Amino acid sequence: MATILVPGGAGFIGSHTVIALVNAGYDVVIFDNFSNSKPTVLERLKKILGKNIPFVCGDIRNREQIENVFEQYKIDGVINFAGLKAVGESVKKPLEYYDNNVHGARTLLQVMREYQCHNFIFSSSATVYGEPDSVPLTESSPVKRANSPYGQTKIDIEYMCQELQIAAPEFSMVLLRYFNPVGAHESGLIGEDPKGIPNNLMPYLCQVAVGRLPHLNVFGNDYPTPDGTCVRDYIHVVDLAEGHVAALKHCLNVPGVHIYNLGTGIGYSVLDMVKAFSKAMGRELPYKIAPRRAGDVVQCYADPALAKKELGWSAKKNLDQMAADSYNWQKNNPNGYDD
Ligand code: NAD
Ligand code: UFG
Repeated sequence: MATILVPGGAGFIGSHTVIALVNAGYDVVIFDNFSNSKPTVLERLKKILGKNIPFVCGDIRNREQIENVFEQYKIDGVINFAGLKAVGESVKKPLEYYDNNVHGARTLLQVMREYQCHNFIFSSSATVYGEPDSVPLTESSPVKRANSPYGQTKIDIEYMCQELQIAAPEFSMVLLRYFNPVGAHESGLIGEDPKGIPNNLMPYLCQVAVGRLPHLNVFGNDYPTPDGTCVRDYIHVVDLAEGHVAALKHCLNVPGVHIYNLGTGIGYSVLDMVKAFSKAMGRELPYKIAPRRAGDVVQCYADPALAKKELGWSAKKNLDQMAADSYNWQKNNPNGYDD
């Protein structure tokens, strides 16, 4: 079975994908600099998987460190989760975002080419579609100029992959555009553990649920949607992880550029999420209506038909499972991995 290098494998989506890869029989090497994760994740993965997963501490911008990994292991493919992802922070620190994300991905690709490893899967985002002209979004919906440096790094890396694939046609480039990943592994041992006050809805709901924050601020209830709050395509992170395995199986050693939306195809509003979370908690989650958040997209959800047709993959877990697993993780780890 192939050996897959997973930069960013200690993070939220990466750690869940490591489980799916190992369960599917792949050998995995995790590579992470812990800039947004903690070594405890590796212990938790060992507990879930019953074995140690090889780990190298390093930075994807450091060519020598990546070369050392390729010297030590025969790597067949790379799934790159390593990146900075806070939209607001990227506005304040654009150069850091281009450096970490774009320069990091470029360095990885340079080493891959040097070692003749031609299978690259990239964590892209629905943010590349900007404010959609219409929903649901298909892979051929237009890619728009991003409204943050973070979003622009995703677009830049997508283009870089496509351009390299033209120059080096032996590459299989898989660009996976995630919608809104939420939930956690059913064990409650791993989950999302943002630093500071969460920017995103689900981790914010989790922290209100365990009393770390007093209430949720719902950013705007006067949008042109059924209940006035914004609509997103929330996808359980375990389904998303399985999507990577499906993409790997389908695209490994199949040269070309392969682009897939990974979403459920269902749009839920912020108030739908509050309702589902209240149900998981067994009591009402406190919230207040607050002003709109600048730059928010009104509605964003996927047409997931292509992934179903070509990868044989579709999301299985519903909104109640997303809320229940998120809550279970936070309840068991009220302070995240700091417990
Ligand atoms: P995360 O921050 O939990 O995981 C990223 C991991 O990469 C962390 O463990 C971090 O320490 C590591 N990392 C960052 N920079 C690194 C570097 N230079 N070298 C080595 N390791 C580095 O984030 P996540 O939510 O798991 O997201 C993973 C990827 O998916 C990111 O690229 C993100 O932009 C993308 N994505 C996430 C979402 C989302 O809502 N979570 C949506 C769309 C796309
Ligand atoms: N929201 C609130 N209160 C909060 C947090 C969020 O009402 O405290 C609302 C937002 O206004 C939005 C919805 O919940 O309507 C979802 O917001 P998130 O921040 O969780 O997710 P976004 O869809 O806005 O952004 C996410 C990722 C970005 C990525 C984008 C598109 O966080 O990195 O999806 O892929 F760019």
